[in-house]
Amino acid sequence: MKSKFAQKFNHDPSAAIYDQVVKNEKHPIRTGYSNMMKWVNENTQDSNIIVDLGCGTGNTTKAVEFFDKIYCVDVSQNMLNIARIKLKNEKNIIFIKTDLLELFDDHQKFETVDTIISTFAIHHLTQEEKHLLFEKVYMLLPKGGKVIFGDLMFKSSNYENEMREKYPELIGDFDDEYYWNLEDELKILQSLGFRIEITKFSDLSWGIIGEK
Ligand SMILES: C[S@@+](CC[C@H](N)C(=O)[O-])C[C@H]1O[C@@H](n2cnc3c(N)ncnc32)[C@H](O)[C@@H]1O
Repeated sequence: MKSKFAQKFNHDPSAAIYDQVVKNEKHPIRTGYSNMMKWVNENTQDSNIIVDLGCGTGNTTKAVEFFDKIYCVDVSQNMLNIARIKLKNEKNIIFIKTDLLELFDDHQKFETVDTIISTFAIHHLTQEEKHLLFEKVYMLLPKGGKVIFGDLMFKSSNYENEMREKYPELIGDFDDEYYWNLEDELKILQSLGFRIEITKFSDLSWGIIGEK
């Protein structure tokens, strides 16, 4: 099954400038980006087989110090091409060009995955698609395995209204993407059986660690 807006959010057209854009952490959408990368590394110290969902130009995978193998997954060939160059000195990185939901259609292709990481990618899925992804992630992980999501989120519906007042210049972006509603998504993740830990990186970005 393909996600509805895979083509719209395929980053092929902006791949060449992506790494320059994320360096501007003064922009409220980017604030906390580098801290999030450090946080992913801190929380993958015991990980072995990892999947990086929506890996883009490879920044999240590059932040991970210890691993046996990482599957880097993205729908954008141009983003993957840049990731491949940046990660050329790392061993055991497998690049997969596919849609995030389609990936799970044939999860037999993975060895036992113990950790799933994903930064700034899942807000390209609709809320219903996020829930489907959570289920697939839960099924793929063994007991004790974890998922590490860092992304653009609103803490709650009231909080979203506050952010719309605080950042009127970003309303177009808020309307165009599918920022998480943190409170709602936590309920879904917990109902699946994940034990949850949350970290705030900025007004608009949060991290969730779910342990199965
Ligand atoms: C904002 S970038 C984030 C890249 C990287 N994770 C980071 O934190 O820098 C989002 C990435 O998700 C990819 N993407 C968007 N929708 C996707 C989908 N449905 N399936 C696979 N990849 C998708 C885009 O091509 C892009 O590379």
